[in-house]
Amino acid sequence: LRTGLLAGGAGAAAVAATHLAVEANRAGVGSRAAAPTAVRPAVLPFRGSRQSGVVDAPQPFAAFVGLDLPEGATRLTCRRLMRVWTDDIERLMAARGPLTDLEPELAAVPSRLSVTVAVGPGFYAAAGLDAVRPSWLAPLPAFAVDRLNRDWPQTDVLLQIRADSPVSVAHAARRLVVGAEPLAVQRWVQRGFREPLTDARPGMPFRNLFGQVDGTVQPATDGSDDRLVWLGADPATGGDGAEAAGTPAPKGLAGGTSLVIRRIAMNLDTWDQIDRAGREHAVGRRLGSGAPLTGRVEADLPDLAATDDLGFPVIDPVSHVRRAMATEPHERILRAPYSYDDPPAPGQRSNCGLVFVSFQADPVRQFVPIQQRLAEADLLNIWTTPLSSGVYAVLPGAQAGEDLGAALLD
Ligand code: HEM
Repeated sequence: LRTGLLAGGAGAAAVAATHLAVEANRAGVGSRAAAPTAVRPAVLPFRGSRQSGVVDAPQPFAAFVGLDLPEGATRLTCRRLMRVWTDDIERLMAARGPLTDLEPELAAVPSRLSVTVAVGPGFYAAAGLDAVRPSWLAPLPAFAVDRLNRDWPQTDVLLQIRADSPVSVAHAARRLVVGAEPLAVQRWVQRGFREPLTDARPGMPFRNLFGQVDGTVQPATDGSDDRLVWLGADPATGGDGAEAAGTPAPKGLAGGTSLVIRRIAMNLDTWDQIDRAGREHAVGRRLGSGAPLTGRVEADLPDLAATDDLGFPVIDPVSHVRRAMATEPHERILRAPYSYDDPPAPGQRSNCGLVFVSFQADPVRQFVPIQQRLAEADLLNIWTTPLSSGVYAVLPGAQAGEDLGAALLD
């Protein structure tokens, strides 16, 4: 196993490409995370060919709301739902309350609210669109590490609501859920948080509750990796991820993407029992700087061939980063996870983890091989347990005068 994993080749090239993207992001090329606070917009655009909330630097507060269509829903139900939400979301993101809002003051403080609408297989079925459903819009394969819980199943629709203020998130979620009834009914809510966006540490946007710098190796957000993320990205500007999508966007999804959401419990109580060296060994990076164990700073490339005094690899072949890193150039995903820290059950000390979220043009080609490798062997599995799993198609943005999902539901 070790020899195979350490044998560079195509994998090494992919690793180099990914880490170049890290450096581009750190340099702030097209990355809003690295932009000075003063110019960070307080209002994100609603209208356009793509929805907000995908490549924008993740705001510190989020709610993920899973909703189901009612029994007997039809394409008309889907159209009506999108009609209502298009108007309400446009107003909320512009810091105005929806028309039916009796407390529009709660929407009045611009806080970079983004509401991203995504649909599941049940939406396609209700709309009579199974024939054009992308093949990847289906349950992910079962992974050996999964302990899926009935509390957060796949739903017909998902709202990803993110903002700089938890008040904005709570208000938008409430208005959109109430406004949707009876066209869609809330099934579950998952809330999460990240550190506030700051310019002080542009290369360290997020620490998860294990204390790790999370989000270092990502596709570039300057457009050069667009085809890894967006469906129907322009091949001329879509960069080196062209093989990721490879085919034209499925009907009605050009300008959309896919969203994978997995709730992953993190056992802080057993994590607390290992020393710092053990924790760093498990992930392959330093807790303080986020640098690879073979490097000095976060952006350094991991040296997979480096060995210690005893001849063992410094970066363990079963460390999280070694298992997660791309072995093919297209196996890259845009991660935008949020921490959760919910009240523990009586008698328990903690109930923490990640609402793991990733965007990619094709989850089967990009996400699944990574998750498969992690499920087979990843030291982090000792402390982490996936509790839910969902896949959604993020709709394209709504152009002026158009409703969300217009091209799909026409
Ligand atoms: C890298 C933590 C789950 C994919 C990392 C890093 C940390 C981390 C600390 C190193 C810094 C970075 O590049 O972001 C975690 C934790 C998880 C988790 C705590 C669960 C609780 C996942 C899952 C996937 C994933 C489910 C996808 C299936 C990746 C990838 C990288 C990465 C692709 C970059 C690897 C590289 O090229 O160096 N993760 N992760 N992670 N993780 Fe995770």
